[in-house]
Amino acid sequence: LKLDNAMFQNNGPIISGNAKVVLERRYLRKNDQGDPIETPTDMFRRVAHHVAQAEMRYGGSETAAEMEAIFYSMMTEFRFLPNSPTLMNAGRRLGQLAACFVLPVEDSMEGIFDALKHAAIIHKSGGGTGFSFSRLRPKNSRVGTTGGVASGPVSFMKVFNTATEQVKQGGTRRGANMAILRVDHPDILEFIQCKEKDSDLNNFNISVGITDAFMDALKKGSDYDLIDPREKRITKKLSSIEVFDTLVYHAWKNGDPGIVFLDRINRDNPTPALGEIESTNPCGEQPLLPMESCNLGSVNLAKFVMEKEGAAVIDFEGLSQTIYHAIRFLDDVIDMSLYPIPEIERMVKGNRKIGLGVMGFADMLYQLEIPYNSEKGIETAETLMKFFQDTAHDASRALAETRGTFENFEQSVYKDREGCAYRNATTTTIAPTGTLSIIAGCSSGIEPLFALSFTRTIMDNDEMIEVNPVFEATARTRGFYSLELMKMIARKGGIQGLGNIPEDVKRVFVTAHDITPEWHVRMQAAFQKYTDNAVSKTVNLHRNAEVADVIKVYNLAYDLGCKGVTIYRDGSKDRQVLSVNKNE
Ligand code: CDP
Repeated sequence: LKLDNAMFQNNGPIISGNAKVVLERRYLRKNDQGDPIETPTDMFRRVAHHVAQAEMRYGGSETAAEMEAIFYSMMTEFRFLPNSPTLMNAGRRLGQLAACFVLPVEDSMEGIFDALKHAAIIHKSGGGTGFSFSRLRPKNSRVGTTGGVASGPVSFMKVFNTATEQVKQGGTRRGANMAILRVDHPDILEFIQCKEKDSDLNNFNISVGITDAFMDALKKGSDYDLIDPREKRITKKLSSIEVFDTLVYHAWKNGDPGIVFLDRINRDNPTPALGEIESTNPCGEQPLLPMESCNLGSVNLAKFVMEKEGAAVIDFEGLSQTIYHAIRFLDDVIDMSLYPIPEIERMVKGNRKIGLGVMGFADMLYQLEIPYNSEKGIETAETLMKFFQDTAHDASRALAETRGTFENFEQSVYKDREGCAYRNATTTTIAPTGTLSIIAGCSSGIEPLFALSFTRTIMDNDEMIEVNPVFEATARTRGFYSLELMKMIARKGGIQGLGNIPEDVKRVFVTAHDITPEWHVRMQAAFQKYTDNAVSKTVNLHRNAEVADVIKVYNLAYDLGCKGVTIYRDGSKDRQVLSVNKNE
């Protein structure tokens, strides 16, 4: 198969106005004056070409050319996109292609500032960093060498936060960090309250690392032990109920902290012999060992709905093919990426973790006419993700046949499991797809839509109504479309309670706030059931939700097998990225 320019030129992507703005601002190569010197088509060619060079090692130049064409079309048709750093950096000087890193923070000055230095280097390349601060000795404990007292995890987090503020990621996005502290660390109460104001630690997401011991104590209403990580001794006991109440109150008040279930995450650790998982990446969907990194990619489900005998159904065959190619793409990315430090390169190449996930799920449900908040919605998610995960595993197994299993395979849990000779220690992760979904023009990750129609201000306060395309098509065929109605929906966000829209349409076209927290959690759990790593999801609560509602969400997430949970109560942060005018 020979590639010529005409083939690429003829198959350029069709890009929406928003996507164009995002790409021009942050993804396309620029000259010294800051003007883009490549088009989106050039960008996808650059990425496809660079990533496919890995194929030279396994199949030679013909295979590389063939895969380059496949990678190009799967990206330009928006069936699949790799995480942002791959789009930004492939075939360019920085060359760092992964979005997620976890760095160890040792209990020593050298250790702490090594982590800070490595984080700065990673942020420069567009990657995000997660840390566990659990190994640090608690505030006010003795420092041997100086005879002074330790400042504790939270005060060191402030140093990391300030450093992050100064390094914009790759000159394009500001560094994102995750800080995790185990619930049994003596400084846990200070940690839970460390993001009291919006301006505090603004470059961090924080999560409390919940243990099974803590959950058991909570179910019994008893006290639990706080443990000094350095001296490995119990320092005191706290009431599990009081700690949980404080945690939940703060999450209710402003969204932070989230929680992660550390023991559950470690039960899914494919290589426990290599260490314990202490932290996740910034948005929580990718648990990693210290010094591990992972590249993600997402399949756009909106592209896999087809018509069969007059009904809309999932195109499993098409999906399967794209999953095979996407797994191969992500495995190639491991070989082609440059790594910020040698330890990370060694860990990544040893385990070859990748995270393929989905976006456009809500769009898919609209097309299938299945309500997100329904038993059928949950069933669809489970069937779909089981298929997705099985196929991703098959694809990784097939790669292992020609390329070999990952290096640490003999030290992994798969070595004694039949049919588990994989190329990659993990294959699936569901990312937020914050920018990828804008580029692909689909709903993000597995989230419901935030609004069916909204007003966008363009040039000098000119306003434009943007309507979800599936909803617009339905409104037109069912005969209730009017600009006036779309404007009204833009003010309200959703269509529930509107008199002139048919009931069955209202059932299908639900948005984030029409969906109760229970359905949000159940959907997250449905996807988690068939995901190697974790699932990014925000459980939306109404402005007037109570603390008790948050408690219910946390307990349900634990009971249903989620690996963590993030809630957001409408209006609880001063600055909210997306909002709908609720006055109407
Ligand atoms: O859509 P995109 O590939 O840009 O990113 P995402 O799916 O929203 O986020 C995936 C991961 O990228 C996050 O969990 C972070 O590890 C990282 N990220 C980051 O470091 N900084 C950001 N501003 C956004 C994402």
